[in-house]
Amino acid sequence: MSEYALGVDLGTSSVKVSAVTPDGTIAAQESFDYDLNQPQPGYAEQNPEDWVYGTTVAIVRLILNDHIGVDEIKGISYSGQMHGLVLLDENGKVLRPAMLWNDTRSTKQCEEIMAKMGQEFIDITHNRPLEGFTLPKLLWVKENEPEIFAKAQTMLLPKDYLRYKMTGKLAMDFSDATGTVMLDIEKADWSQTILEAFDIPASMCPPLVESIEFTGNVTEKYAEFSGLSTTTKTFGGGADNACGAVGAGIDTPNKVLSSIGTSGVVLKFEDDDRTNYNGVLQFEDHAVPNSYYSMGVTLAAGFSLSWFKKTFGDDEDFNGFVNSAAESSVGANGLLFAPYIVGERAPYADADIRGSFIGIDGVHNKGDFVRAVLEGITFSFEDIMEIYRAKGAKFDTVVSIGGGAKSAMWQQIQADIFNTKVVSLKNEQGPGLGAAMLAAVGLGWFKDIHECTAKFVEYSNVFLPNPDNVAKYKQLHAMYAKIYNQTKEISHDLVNFRREQETK
Ligand code: XUL
Repeated sequence: MSEYALGVDLGTSSVKVSAVTPDGTIAAQESFDYDLNQPQPGYAEQNPEDWVYGTTVAIVRLILNDHIGVDEIKGISYSGQMHGLVLLDENGKVLRPAMLWNDTRSTKQCEEIMAKMGQEFIDITHNRPLEGFTLPKLLWVKENEPEIFAKAQTMLLPKDYLRYKMTGKLAMDFSDATGTVMLDIEKADWSQTILEAFDIPASMCPPLVESIEFTGNVTEKYAEFSGLSTTTKTFGGGADNACGAVGAGIDTPNKVLSSIGTSGVVLKFEDDDRTNYNGVLQFEDHAVPNSYYSMGVTLAAGFSLSWFKKTFGDDEDFNGFVNSAAESSVGANGLLFAPYIVGERAPYADADIRGSFIGIDGVHNKGDFVRAVLEGITFSFEDIMEIYRAKGAKFDTVVSIGGGAKSAMWQQIQADIFNTKVVSLKNEQGPGLGAAMLAAVGLGWFKDIHECTAKFVEYSNVFLPNPDNVAKYKQLHAMYAKIYNQTKEISHDLVNFRREQETK
């Protein structure tokens, strides 16, 4: 009889469930899509029941289509889209649609948090209040839907609602809880100061657990609904970025993750809870117990490239389009690109900054532009790496995942710009593998996450920095780093101009 740990990757557009064996093999994977509702500009909502139905369909398919034996499913853990607010009434019923991480309606509440608490808030949470985070959403409900807030007994994050429906138990792991910005990072507990300042009953906050902690067995009711057995155990799980980092082996301070999806993430393992980037970077508890990670987000990473291709090279094959950058040279023949095409989050939190090409010359061809886009995205990641170096961080390996890992040329550009060894994963699986690893450790298959990482995570494609290119990119990044301040005013004027035209 085989044994499996299920890793549930509860994303924004779909849920993917992976069945993983104790030797780290993904035996089967099933997924199910659900809707994202945007009833007004800036709103992003989902029906929490869709997560439960979607996950259940995927589990049923694992059992029926992939012949994963019900008694072989020993444990389940979760990777969750972060920050989403789920409110339950006294009977555990959902009170309103979940407000998701990409719902930006709570700017006023972010300003209120800073006006009331200012630096103290940053000192407690090690984060600035951003619209994406949970507390501003909760305050939005309190101000705009007081009748719903009055009925709310419990606040959960997306994956924790799913766990609640599977086990009947309330829990939230530390890595996701930091994303609410209601946690005192250094005390590792809900912040009484923040709860009192905003008049939020402490009883709304669920019990905190470690990511590998046991959080209950599947209930009879959910077993009947899904076909699972009540012997299957569940474990804490983590925020999707934390689980992605676990799945990419980011479990020691010498490793940094460079992830290029639609948005881009630079994420670093941190071992000291006193580290504080003053909100310029996000700082969160890791899914690896007693450790942390910091993270900077480039809002338009892969999106800059896909926008550029859609706009200027739509009829071409994607790889051919990207490879045209190889015909150009380091620095794209003197062309720079800043990827702020939908605003930026880190290191500049500025919704109204916009992108630019600087240095356009009559000699430039398409290859130069594509190369400038690849380099510009990577320069924006280097901005975050510079913050790390300025803090004295020592890291020697960048693990590249997503779009940046699909092209040898882009991996070499990363190695040269970061002046650090860049590797990719032999078998890139995303946060679902990280979630399964948490269950594998929780089940006792491994002594700790490090032992599981050694078994499950393998690197390949090592790219070392080329000293000549490193020197050139150092010069170019110094020029790139001036773009934000020198284009800020023009960008803001242009954004305002467009807004005025649209309202006329
Ligand atoms: C992180 C964030 C996103 C979501 C995506 O702060 O908002 O990465 O976790 O699911």
